[in-house]
Amino acid sequence: MAKDNNIYLPSKALIKDVTDLSCDVKLFKVMPEKKTQYLPGQFFMLSLWGTGEVPISITSTIGLQKHIELGIKKVGKVTSALHELKAGDTLWLRGPYGNNFNADISKGKDVIFIAGGIGILPLRSLINFVLMNKKEFGRVFLIYGSKNTSNMLFTQEIKQWAKKGLEIILTVDETDKRWKGSTGLVTGHLDKIKTDFKKASAYVCGPEIMIENTMKELSLRGMPDKLITTTLEARMKCGMGKCGQCYHGIEYICTNGPVYSYEEMKKRLY
Ligand SMILES: Cc1cc2nc3c(=O)[nH]c(=O)nc-3n(C[C@H](O)[C@H](O)[C@H](O)COP(=O)(O)OP(=O)(O)OC[C@H]3O[C@@H](n4cnc5c(N)ncnc54)[C@H](O)[C@@H]3O)c2cc1C
Ligand code: FES
Repeated sequence: MAKDNNIYLPSKALIKDVTDLSCDVKLFKVMPEKKTQYLPGQFFMLSLWGTGEVPISITSTIGLQKHIELGIKKVGKVTSALHELKAGDTLWLRGPYGNNFNADISKGKDVIFIAGGIGILPLRSLINFVLMNKKEFGRVFLIYGSKNTSNMLFTQEIKQWAKKGLEIILTVDETDKRWKGSTGLVTGHLDKIKTDFKKASAYVCGPEIMIENTMKELSLRGMPDKLITTTLEARMKCGMGKCGQCYHGIEYICTNGPVYSYEEMKKRLY
């Protein structure tokens, strides 16, 4: 039989497990039929017959988790349908697509992860990679902000990260009686990071305004723009540079990104 060269053809993946990360975010552990390699920062196009297709970042790390892990927030048509799925059901995957976080630029340096809301999902893949190779990096920090305590994802895993040497500041906008962490915007806690910002690197992910303000603040503190990295969201259809849906600045976010340094963003996207 002739080999099918249809680049849009998704492949089947079995859902092994589904767990609630919060009231509107679920973690899916999936096993693709085809052996699949990926890197932190990449994404899949996830589809359900008769419903549609959406880009979703990979939140797992090869060498740590057995299955591909995808954290999905229920916001609309496709993500709501995905939330109905259970272990044993199937979904469809294309990819992985996009570039990946460059961890090599941070070797020998202090590394700061700054996450807002579901921005922790793509960063988790890199955080676990860095912690697995901790000897190659300096001090590793995380500032993670969420709306309230019940929206904070991976709270149990964060405790394990602390045991592995991650220095963590958790912050919420709306506090409650049980909360012992910090409050306010992630940028309001940068002073607590004991590092020389001129020699450190950072990976930032969250809502657009948070990314913008955080990158600006890190740059003002002397961090070189090429060492400030983020991953961007854009409306996507094909995920592989064919449809033009994600065109921004002078390029397609799906193939040239979604990972960008602040330096690249200034040159190519603004
Ligand atoms: C590279 C990339 C990685 C992503 N990774 C994740 C992830 O790991 N987990 C996750 O939960 N979501 C992720 N998203 C966002 C996710 O793709 C959208 O939430 C999803 O496409 C919404 O589809 P829907 O049919 O459920 O919603 P729709 O019915 O299409 O829309 C519902 C609402 O969501 C808004 N919306 C739809 N798509 C986007 C988008 N791309 N960006 C911002 N707002 C949007 C719409 O304006 C509308 O208000 C990622 C997006 C990109 C581009
Ligand atoms: S999503 Fe089609 S070109 Fe990027």
